Amino acid sequence: MSAAKKKTVFFCKECGNESAKWMGQCPACHAWNSFTEREVRPAARSDQHVRAGLETAKPTALSDIRLSDEDRVSTGMAELDRVLGGGVVPGSMILVGGDPGIGKSTLLLQACREMAAGGQKLIYISGEESLKQIRMRADRLGEFTGDIKLLCETDLGAISDILRSEKPDVVVIDSIQTMLNTEVSGTPGSVSQVRESTAVLLQLSKALTISVFIVGHVTKEGMVAGPRILEHMVDTVLYFEGDRHASYRILRGVKNRFGSTNEIGVFEMCEGGLKEVSNPSEYLLSGRPKDASGTVTACSIEGTRPILLEIQALVCQTGFGIPRRQSSGADLNRINLLMAVLEKRLGLKLGMCDAYVNIAGGMRIAEPALDLAIAMAVVSSFMNVPVSDRLLAFGEVGLSGEVRGVSQPEQRIREAAKLGYEECVLPKVCAQRVGDIKGIRLHPVESVRDAIALIKK
Ligand code: TYD
Ligand code: MG
Repeated sequence: MSAAKKKTVFFCKECGNESAKWMGQCPACHAWNSFTEREVRPAARSDQHVRAGLETAKPTALSDIRLSDEDRVSTGMAELDRVLGGGVVPGSMILVGGDPGIGKSTLLLQACREMAAGGQKLIYISGEESLKQIRMRADRLGEFTGDIKLLCETDLGAISDILRSEKPDVVVIDSIQTMLNTEVSGTPGSVSQVRESTAVLLQLSKALTISVFIVGHVTKEGMVAGPRILEHMVDTVLYFEGDRHASYRILRGVKNRFGSTNEIGVFEMCEGGLKEVSNPSEYLLSGRPKDASGTVTACSIEGTRPILLEIQALVCQTGFGIPRRQSSGADLNRINLLMAVLEKRLGLKLGMCDAYVNIAGGMRIAEPALDLAIAMAVVSSFMNVPVSDRLLAFGEVGLSGEVRGVSQPEQRIREAAKLGYEECVLPKVCAQRVGDIKGIRLHPVESVRDAIALIKK
């Protein structure tokens, strides 16, 4: 009997893109002459299955599956636990993405230190740094106790063997872009490598109930080969962000199969590693100028927690024909819209003004509840009249200049009251819902016009 015809596919050597036929130019990465033929091995996937030690799954009655909260393992860092939804679920996969140098390795090494001290068995696998480099970082973070091992390895085959023999509770892979799955084509960091390496880790994690933290660098070029492509494979996706030149860092949950997203954790990068900031409002408002025009305090709800922010605006006559509008932290389209509303409904001559809006502290917030504070900051700067630094403003602004209600007004006001705020401008509908809050005078408003009238006083 003649051998069955071998099935082959073509793949791009540059990005791993596959195609049934040969192509001169790769449609994904636009490289020329990069397509090569490869034999398809249909058994590859089930091979991986067997290697990972997975048994054939049997259906289980839904009511037989037991859940308990004690299943979660605390990372020993309250801010990280908060973003994870109360700790690490054993056997889950967590992707930690972020720009290079933002502090991902530091965060995870620190979490490892706490988890090892709490009795967990850990392996930290680095494909980026040498053992000595990691040791040097560890020395900055303090003393390490417990069962924590380091491994410098990039070959996934070797890593799976080690994980199967060591059976740790938690593994850190730093980073997924350095891992090499020899069964797949492409260089480390290419789409196919990143995807297939994650698939192997996923099977190991589920089969051996190992919690896996995966570090992924976000590439500047639209994150194509970055961690974005594996967001759907992992259980939890966290992004570590912040200005590399400033000391604060924000850990944001963007996907979480075991908890709420939108939670944020706030850290400060210090000499001895990351320090948790348990009261971000106080931290973000520190250094606020007094009696300066163009600054108004707003409140945003991030997950379950209200955070006070300083909105700064600088409005000045444009020197050129076309006014410049710039924003850092807030949505620029929203700012343009608010300025159009102010111009049309209040008759302010903003059309020929440059405007720069900034959320102090490097926070990025898209919540419409910030509208009112942005509008007030813009007008305050335009008129050069300061707004009281003991005043909080929140509310959504509509196209007719009306101020609409937002969620959880009471929580926002209480947070401000805690920090010694005395006044609050809020939508009328919200004012009806909140009772008296000690120490805070409420100014319910129906339109931006009412709110702006408060500045002039
Ligand atoms: P790192 O964790 O290596 O970033 P990533 O893994 O995301 O690429 O952190 C890098 C930065 O953090 C580096 O610029 C030095 C700084 N750093 C401190 O300021 N204090 C410290 O204690 C440590 C360990 C790092
Ligand atoms: Mg690193």
